[in-house]
Amino acid sequence: MKIFAKSFTQQESIPEEGIARAVEIMRSGRLHRYNVEVGEESEVSQLESEYAKWQGSKYCIACASGGYAISLALRVAGVKHGDTVLANAYTLAPVPGAIHSVGGVPLFIEIDENYHMDISDFEAKASSSGSKVLLLSHMRGHISDMEAVMAICKQYDIILVEDCAHTMGASWRGVRSGNFGTLAAFSTQTYKHMNSGEGGFLTTNDPDMAARAVISSGSYMLYSRHGAIPDQNHFEAVKYYSPNYSGRMDHLRAAMLRAQLPHLEDNVARWNALYDDLHRRIKTIPGLTIPDRKQEESYVGSSIQFRMDGVNRSDIPGVLNRLANRGVELKWFGDDEPKAFTSRYDSWRYIDNLPVLSKTLSVLEKTVDMRIPLTFNLDDTALIASILSEEMAMMTTGNKATA
Ligand SMILES: Cc1ncc(COP(=O)(O)O)c(C=O)c1O
Repeated sequence: MKIFAKSFTQQESIPEEGIARAVEIMRSGRLHRYNVEVGEESEVSQLESEYAKWQGSKYCIACASGGYAISLALRVAGVKHGDTVLANAYTLAPVPGAIHSVGGVPLFIEIDENYHMDISDFEAKASSSGSKVLLLSHMRGHISDMEAVMAICKQYDIILVEDCAHTMGASWRGVRSGNFGTLAAFSTQTYKHMNSGEGGFLTTNDPDMAARAVISSGSYMLYSRHGAIPDQNHFEAVKYYSPNYSGRMDHLRAAMLRAQLPHLEDNVARWNALYDDLHRRIKTIPGLTIPDRKQEESYVGSSIQFRMDGVNRSDIPGVLNRLANRGVELKWFGDDEPKAFTSRYDSWRYIDNLPVLSKTLSVLEKTVDMRIPLTFNLDDTALIASILSEEMAMMTTGNKATA
């Protein structure tokens, strides 16, 4: 019996130049982002300038995490206690958590069978709720029809905040994900497209929001030590009115990220070679359904989602167990119980009046999810697909394999 022996959570190491710089910073003892020598531009500040340039945004604020960057974006977008925030229901727990942390109340929107936000449900809820903010999570890298999203945001005067935790480096019709919204949040947590263990960015082109975000990220009155910020006058206007919610990035993380940024474009291509190979193979396996990606979308295939439509829902845990015993680790979004990183919107019970989103529940019911780390190669994707194919064949013939 074929067994897959690699880990689905093994990342590549940090580039040597990042390790060397991190060691240098540790030797200096100056780890805090504002701890610099006279005339020195800090590591975090340089990272902010470089990321803003790469992303194509005017301003960038490095943060302690992606979830923190989302909550900061919501704050500067004006979300106050009790405000409704529109949000697609297919996402991960830090997203509703960020809404909750600023006192907002999520109003979840259905998704369609391609894992995109359902545009007609968005329009209906935009119109009926009067909400002024949409937090759009490009969950697992699936980018909704951005022309349609932007048209509805414009019509109802809604500020778009993009959660790009899974779309750093992706785009829609050639525009980078994160450059549609007034604000965007990125994560550099270990499983994302750049890895600093924990970390994130907030980007925006709005100078007043940027100034407030810098001070609220915890700049004290040291905001001039930032790399990609608006003119001083924008700070004068807001500095007495922006609370400090400490959530800064430190120099060690910045050193690791600065060494990875020049490789990001190449890594996107490497991810997509693995993703496209898996997609092509999964498409041919009876019993599995995998949506085609839209032509307008340039994705980053760091994970893959498909449905086990040929299997009864009650049989899915058994199939996943057998796959796990053969080394193929899949997560299940249809599980009623939240497990590890995976949870479904109806398990976030701290939110009052959780709706029943029948379309979302039926799409997720048989949806499984697999990470694709860059430590895999094309032999690995072939082996994974052949194990998947064998186990699905066992199921569909009713001849269940034993572990
Ligand atoms: C969709 C999504 N958004 C936001 C986040 C938050 O990122 P972080 O872990 O850096 O707080 C995550 C993290 O897993 C995520 O998966």
